Amino acid sequence: MADDHDGTRCVRAGLPEPAPGEPFLPGPVFAAPYHLDPWAGPAAAPNGYGRPDNPTRRLLEAAIGELEGGDCRVFATGQAAITGLLLTVLRPGDTVVLPSDGYFPVRAFATDTLTGIGVRVVFAPTAGPYPDLAGVRLVLVETPANPGLDVVDVPALVTRAHAAGALVAVDNTTATPLGQRPLDLGADLVVASGTKALTGHSDLLLGYVATRSADLLEAVTGWRTITGAVPGPFDAWLAHRSLATLDLRLARQTANAGALARLLAARPDVTGLRWPGLPDDPAYPVASVQMRRMPGVLSFDLGDADRVARFLDASRLVTAATSFGGLHTTADRRAQWGDDTAPGFVRLSCGVEDIVDLVADVTAALDTAGR
Ligand SMILES: Cc1ncc(COP(=O)(O)O)c(C=O)c1O
Repeated sequence: MADDHDGTRCVRAGLPEPAPGEPFLPGPVFAAPYHLDPWAGPAAAPNGYGRPDNPTRRLLEAAIGELEGGDCRVFATGQAAITGLLLTVLRPGDTVVLPSDGYFPVRAFATDTLTGIGVRVVFAPTAGPYPDLAGVRLVLVETPANPGLDVVDVPALVTRAHAAGALVAVDNTTATPLGQRPLDLGADLVVASGTKALTGHSDLLLGYVATRSADLLEAVTGWRTITGAVPGPFDAWLAHRSLATLDLRLARQTANAGALARLLAARPDVTGLRWPGLPDDPAYPVASVQMRRMPGVLSFDLGDADRVARFLDASRLVTAATSFGGLHTTADRRAQWGDDTAPGFVRLSCGVEDIVDLVADVTAALDTAGR
């Protein structure tokens, strides 16, 4: 139901109507080809071949589509979704605006591949200023941006972009559809990695595009069918199963992030703390209006790589790992992946551990790591 709250929407999203003797969430359908009607061929059945058609994937798409408020197509990874969207929408001679401070493989793809096919690429910082959008085909923003956690005022940007005839796509990876509904904010497209908080168990890769435009949906669907970057049925099923707890997981992750943000803000040995939920964070004025809940991710600087390693070594609950949004609290020194961040810059992703344990552990680990 449209006016159900988040927890209710998550447990029911994409499920078929209850039928006696059937499971709540049907199991994964493992199929490459399906039986065909010998006379009518593929037109007679919903499933003909596994690349375009899989019922497990369709249920997941229904679920994510319900949460985003649009139609959804899932991809094998977030990168497959983003690159697929860019190559679906952009043609030689077009101009695209991309975040200068977002997920860096998107910049690498733009510089290597998009410019190579004659697309003009303009980078803008998430928090702005944005260039004149006249003649721009697509503006892709990432808000909050990974890893710096700046945000952009989506409705204001959409107004400018639409006045200039540009489409707006929002990378909703960090926020998830419970944290922010870009299509309601006026964006034409949502694109995201479902690898992170959306599915949250650090056990699968997933991406998706969502839109309310039938034309864009058809183009994205056609692109996916031709290029074939689909998730397998087991991953699609696992993702759908995990979605049911999204509200619960995010609630704990956000609470943990708030507690750690307050702890880190009070420590003189931690600098550059960013969390859009802190009232004195530069992102707060926009985030607190535009977002429905704050992310479980925060970032800060411990000065140098050695101190980050000492902190991670000393911590029992903060695991060294990349990615974010999972059940376990993790931290990642982003410079080690080639991100354009300071050597001691850490992105910390709160898991669902108990707040008191996490606060005690991080306090002790920082104390042990010293300066
Ligand atoms: C904001 C953002 N978008 C997209 C991606 C790419 O997702 P995936 O790793 O599922 O390809 C990531 C991955 O970290 C991300 O952080």
